[in-house]
This record gives sequence, C-alpha cells and structure tokens, in this order.
Amino acid sequence: MKGIGRLRSLLDSQISQDDGLPPLTDEDRRYLTRLYDDSVPLPVEASELTSENPRLIELRDAYSRLDLPVLSLSRWNRSAVSSFLDLRWFRGETLFVWHYRELPRVSQLKYFVYARYVRDRDELGLLDRLTEDGLFGCWTYSFRGWGRVSRDLLQSINEISYLERQLKLSGQPSIKVLDIGAGYGRLGHRMAQALDNVSDYCCVDAVPEATFLSEWYLRYRGCSPPARVVSLDTLDEQLAPRTFDLAVNMHSFSECPLAAVSWWIDRLVELQVCRLLIIPNEPDALLSTEGDGSRVDFSPVLDEAGFELVHCEPVISDEAIAELLPLHDRFYLYERL
Ligand SMILES: C[S@@+](CC[C@H](N)C(=O)[O-])C[C@H]1O[C@@H](n2cnc3c(N)ncnc32)[C@H](O)[C@@H]1O
Repeated sequence: MKGIGRLRSLLDSQISQDDGLPPLTDEDRRYLTRLYDDSVPLPVEASELTSENPRLIELRDAYSRLDLPVLSLSRWNRSAVSSFLDLRWFRGETLFVWHYRELPRVSQLKYFVYARYVRDRDELGLLDRLTEDGLFGCWTYSFRGWGRVSRDLLQSINEISYLERQLKLSGQPSIKVLDIGAGYGRLGHRMAQALDNVSDYCCVDAVPEATFLSEWYLRYRGCSPPARVVSLDTLDEQLAPRTFDLAVNMHSFSECPLAAVSWWIDRLVELQVCRLLIIPNEPDALLSTEGDGSRVDFSPVLDEAGFELVHCEPVISDEAIAELLPLHDRFYLYERL
C-alpha cells in the first residue's frame, strides 16, 4: 500500500517536471497505481465477498477461540489483512500473490519471457489446457497465439511441472495433497484442473480470510471436489494419518513465526506425510518471520522431525531469465522415512 502511495506521488512529480520523457498514458497510470485490474467485471456471486459474510464471521470467531501456537501471526496480522486484502479483488496485488510494478509494456515483455520458459518445461501441455480469465482483479497479459497468461497461471504450471518431473504425478493412480497456507486456493484450482488423478487436494490456513476465500473460490471454480478446505478448528476431525502423499507450502512458512512452522511440522509428523515441497521467500535460507520482524532459520525444525532435503533447484533454472524477471525462489523437496 505504501509502495503504491509513493508511486503515485512520484508519477505526479514526474509529470509536473516536464523532463522531456514521453508522457504516461492513462493505461500506464492505471497499471502503475491500481492494485487490481478491474477491466474484467466481477461476477454477481462476488457480492458475497464482504467482511459481513456469515461464513467469514463464523471462521473469525472459531479461530479467535483457539489457543494454538499456529495462531501466533506476524506478517499476516489483523491490520495487514484488513488494509491489504480486498475480498472481492483477491486475485489482484495482495498479500497472497505479487504481480509487477513497471510500465505495462515492460511487464508484458517479462511475462512473455516467463511464459516461454514455462512452456519449455511444460511436459503435461498445461499451457494449452489451463486458461486465465482475469477474474477477481488478476493482472493478465495476452499474446497472439498464446491466449491470456497471469502470474497465477504461470507460477502454478511451473510448480506442477516441477512436481511432475520429480514425482511423476500424472502416472500415479491417485494423488492426495495437503496445501498448508493455501491462500485463495491458487494451486488447488490449477492442480484440480491439470490432473484428473487428484483425488484430494486439501487446503488449510491459519488466517480466516484465506480459509473463507479458498473455500469460496474453489467452489466457484467447480473444483470442490477434489479440492476441499478444512478450517483450523476442524483439523483434528477431518485430517487422518497416512492419507496424504504430499504436503506443499508455497511462500507460507516464510511468513509465519517459528512457533507456527513447528506446529505445522508436528501435524505433518502426526499425519505421516512423507513428502513436503517448500518454496520459501528467500532463495538460500528457510527463514520464519517473527512478530518483531526478526527472521529465524526453521530448517532445524525440519531436521528434528526427520525431513531430509532430497532435491533443491531454482524455480527458474535459467539464470538470465531469473535475473530478468526477477525471480530467484527455489524449490525445496523433502522426504521423511
Ligand atoms: C504469500 S501467501 C501464499 C499463498 C499460497 N500458498 C500461494 O502460493 O498462492 C501466504 C499464505 O500463508 C498463510 N499464513 C499466514 N500465517 C499462517 C500460519 N500461521 N499458518 C498457516 N498459514 C499461514 C496466509 O494466510 C497465506 O495464505
């Protein structure tokens, strides 16, 4: 939010200085100063996405009655969620997924390079099958012969392609996944559409707004089942040991305090989940975010629980493209015997 405010005043001063640069178009200004793209109208159902929705109120109440270490929030504190999450435009620039903050032409070229990179590794042909409609504020880029792409689409296909390379997902009789810190259900939606052998894709989160939105979004997309959302207060009833082949944690542990990360790792041990894919926010370290903003290495928690790193590679393995985007994250794949 602060970034957007700064950008606005910068744009205003740039315009008044008359420094000879080509003037910004209205579209440039819209792109640089709006958090979400409202050019695709919201469907009527989106009127349900308000903080007065009874289901959201119920989830907030239920979570506030729990006394669990997983609820020691840091980056996802109440004020960040209320100021930086517009429930109706949840696929725009929010705490869930970032987009880009450059002139649209620059972003468009970067997304084209990103799309070509993803296509080169897309063994399952997902770029031809999965689509992007730009709903709920998602910024999108269209290329002739390619259709429309977005960060949500490309990131998800890149993640599924990695899992396919490492675990040969498409060849398994069935796949059951636990997604910890699942956001609005981005990967659940894409996995359910990409692979018809996904028999359970279970999203869990400690932030009631994320639980609410993922529940709503996966239903809206017609992905439930196989995708489902289990609220934190019903975890014990609804999750059973030895039912998940894989747990994923995409950019979530990095945004939780150590106490929350440890709590989730204990759950994985109880549930006997033997594979875990983490994408942390930093390429070379697994760092939590504490309430005071400090960062703590959480890799010892994984070691103590018996999770062993079996594979690690950059999400963009071409260094020049990683630098250009820029996207320096890494996949960390763990196994536990
Ligand atoms: C950057 S978002 C990533 C969302 C999603 N994994 C994705 O990649 O689209 C971080 C997620 O972590 C969740 N989160 C924050 N604190 C958490 C906690 N203590 N336990 C589990 N999830 C948490 C947030 O609600 C949010 O869904």
